[in-house]
Amino acid sequence: MKQRVLVASNRGPISYEFATDGSLTGRRGGGGMIAGVTSGLAAVAPQTDVTWICAALSDADRAVAQQEGGTRDQGGIPVRMLDIPPDTFDRAYNNVANSTLWFLHHLLFDNPNQPQFGRQFQRDWQSYRTYNETFADALAQEARPERCAGDVRMLVQDYHLSLVPRMLRERLGGTAREAGIAHFCHIPWAPPDYYRILPLEVGRAVLDGILGADHAGFHAARWAVAFLDCCTAILGADVDRTGTAGTGPEGTGSAGTGPAGTDVAGTVGRVSYRGHVTEVAVHPMGVDADGLRARARAEDVRAHIGTLNRIAGGRKLIVRIDRTELSKNIVRGLAAYRELLATRPQWRGRVMHLAFAYPSRPAVPEYRAYTERVQQLAREITEEFGTADWNPLILEVKDDYPRSLAACALADVLVVNPIRDGMNLVAQEGPVLSERGCAVVLSREAGAAATLAPDALLINPYDISETAEAIHQALSMPDAERQRRSAALAATATAFRPARWLGDQLARLET
Ligand code: G6P
Repeated sequence: MKQRVLVASNRGPISYEFATDGSLTGRRGGGGMIAGVTSGLAAVAPQTDVTWICAALSDADRAVAQQEGGTRDQGGIPVRMLDIPPDTFDRAYNNVANSTLWFLHHLLFDNPNQPQFGRQFQRDWQSYRTYNETFADALAQEARPERCAGDVRMLVQDYHLSLVPRMLRERLGGTAREAGIAHFCHIPWAPPDYYRILPLEVGRAVLDGILGADHAGFHAARWAVAFLDCCTAILGADVDRTGTAGTGPEGTGSAGTGPAGTDVAGTVGRVSYRGHVTEVAVHPMGVDADGLRARARAEDVRAHIGTLNRIAGGRKLIVRIDRTELSKNIVRGLAAYRELLATRPQWRGRVMHLAFAYPSRPAVPEYRAYTERVQQLAREITEEFGTADWNPLILEVKDDYPRSLAACALADVLVVNPIRDGMNLVAQEGPVLSERGCAVVLSREAGAAATLAPDALLINPYDISETAEAIHQALSMPDAERQRRSAALAATATAFRPARWLGDQLARLET
């Protein structure tokens, strides 16, 4: 009897669009969570009976969701889309998940003005509850004994679905003991003083929701420890902090099995609350190096490599690839490049910055304003330094996956400077795909710093001068050192490949 594995996430591995003739065409879902879960599932799919449950995001998705069962096969994995009323979805996704929980955990609120928790938020919060209930109902239905006679394991993804584990436990009753429930948070977690911004009952519900799981996972020890701190401070839960994962030196949540002699992966503790124990652990997500490299050998990527090489004209390439999210710190990254050119004129004409800033969450007003600031600053840099035969900066805002892979292959320097980031896969994909070795300038506030710190150039993401200096160092680095660091970063990224990320969580549910 195959073990049944149910994955639940807001965005699924595919989203549909209507073609002009009314037929459905599918598009791969974006973002690090999708890439990691898809790759992790591929490794366990042959031995398990998997279903992936996600929200219908487009009208075409809704059409699929309304078909009988709402389930379609995507690369060998049945994907079931849930048809959630658009208003409910909008309030849950845009207003609560993206405008409240995302801002909270990334410490992004413009505090003098936002957030404001009034009547409108109460309505939004009710929608978030309803949206979570829809997922809990679907998971409970998929886990019915007649649907799966053997064990069932449920992997609930991210901050959109923080209430689902508790709701599921309530729905499954006694059978919850046989059905292992894991929750994984792909973004950072706020410290208690900041977390307290949430209305008390909301803050408690989010923690209590996750504590319905048997296992709660995070990408870095810092986030897992912050979660434990909130369980103590907000819930008064009983927290046992004995675990195998360390937080490493200087609060970086560092350091592999490296400098601090601590592990970046493993348990950080256990929370007992309402008669149930939740194990809290760190599972850093790396990348599927073989799959990525195979993809990068495809013709479309090779064609982009040719084009980008021609554009660079032998100059060193400084690359950044982000979704245009407020947490990605693109404006300060561009400001650091401007400072580099202003203070170290020797690089003028000898470098080129490729900044790929792809659209994200256009429904959130702050995102639209941020996108404009990024474009404005890019124009200023080009006007200030550009010459007849040198374009210092190319900003691309149209999402192009093969072109991103090509840029990773060619980068001499990769800039990954988020204000705060759960993990960040680009920092790992760059070295894995690099063809001549790339130096990574990495924010110490990215979860990836916990694993990559020894071989990256770490920066304070708020310090533009320090970032400019790190880019200068990266550009000046001897080839041999750059290649050695790049190979070490690629090895670390590969060690934490998604198959291990997912397999370790399933294994913890067995205990
Ligand atoms: C980032 C986060 C993921 C999250 C995703 C949602 O990639 O790292 O944890 O699931 O954003 O993005 P979306 O486009 O679906 O709002």
